[in-house]
Amino acid sequence: MNSKKICIVGASGKLGRYMIQQALDRGYEVVGVCRERSVSKLEAFKGRITVIPGATNDRQVIKKAVAGCDGVLTVLVPWGVHQYATGTAQAVLDYAQPGARLIFSCGWHISRDGQDVYPQSLKRDEKLARWLGRLTHLIDIDDQVEACRRVFVSDTRWTVVRGSDLEEGESQGLPVWSKHVGDPILESNITRRVDYALFMVAALENDSLIHEAPAIVGCRTPSALAHTSAAQ
Ligand SMILES: NC(=O)c1ccc[n+]([C@@H]2O[C@H](COP(=O)([O-])OP(=O)(O)OC[C@H]3O[C@@H](n4cnc5c(N)ncnc54)[C@H](OP(=O)(O)O)[C@@H]3O)[C@@H](O)[C@H]2O)c1
Repeated sequence: MNSKKICIVGASGKLGRYMIQQALDRGYEVVGVCRERSVSKLEAFKGRITVIPGATNDRQVIKKAVAGCDGVLTVLVPWGVHQYATGTAQAVLDYAQPGARLIFSCGWHISRDGQDVYPQSLKRDEKLARWLGRLTHLIDIDDQVEACRRVFVSDTRWTVVRGSDLEEGESQGLPVWSKHVGDPILESNITRRVDYALFMVAALENDSLIHEAPAIVGCRTPSALAHTSAAQ
């Protein structure tokens, strides 16, 4: 069994809860951080994980949660304003112990090197999200962009996992990935959320993903099946 301790930041969301289950299945000791009002969403894990309630951009909360952790899985969300994602990422970068594996989640719209080629539909969605964000102050896409920029320039052992569109359903296995959106293997643009979690947790032990920003897609999707043997 694994004796390593990991922290999941944003543990109460759908992705977070899948990651908790998979981390427990692999024998990790798990510390989860979520907003106080969401602690009840972790009821099913009572007694099996340590929960630290608080805003994920609260530096003191993160400092306490990541202490002694070999890995940190962080869900970066574009919800709210006031640089919530940026504050979350910065706190993890600042307080995770030296040498810890840091895995962050985000969407395909994040580009590490500007070499991604986006489908029209995704460009349209991003434009709409920005417009809605300005109108409602509920979403801030640029906050996630800034959060990832800070991760990319950090000297920590980071991986930024860029998710395609997500769907619910049983696991199909570890998603496949590519360096750039627009690569043919990613064309199907769909991943089971449970498999996104699988990729995040598996990345903890996959050093070849350090300093990579893999864009993922479900391993059973048509584009993955058509291109897997050629690409991976
Ligand atoms: N949804 C998609 O189609 C999609 C596509 C590509 C990539 N992704 C990426 O996948 C990851 C998980 O996304 P998801 O859509 O599956 O969501 P999710 O796992 O359900 O997580 C949503 C998270 O946002 C938090 N949250 C919601 N409203 C908030 C607010 N006003 N202030 C602060 N935190 C708030 C939730 O916390 P509480 O539990 O406390 O509410 C929860 O931790 C993200 O990194 C996202 O960028 C998603």
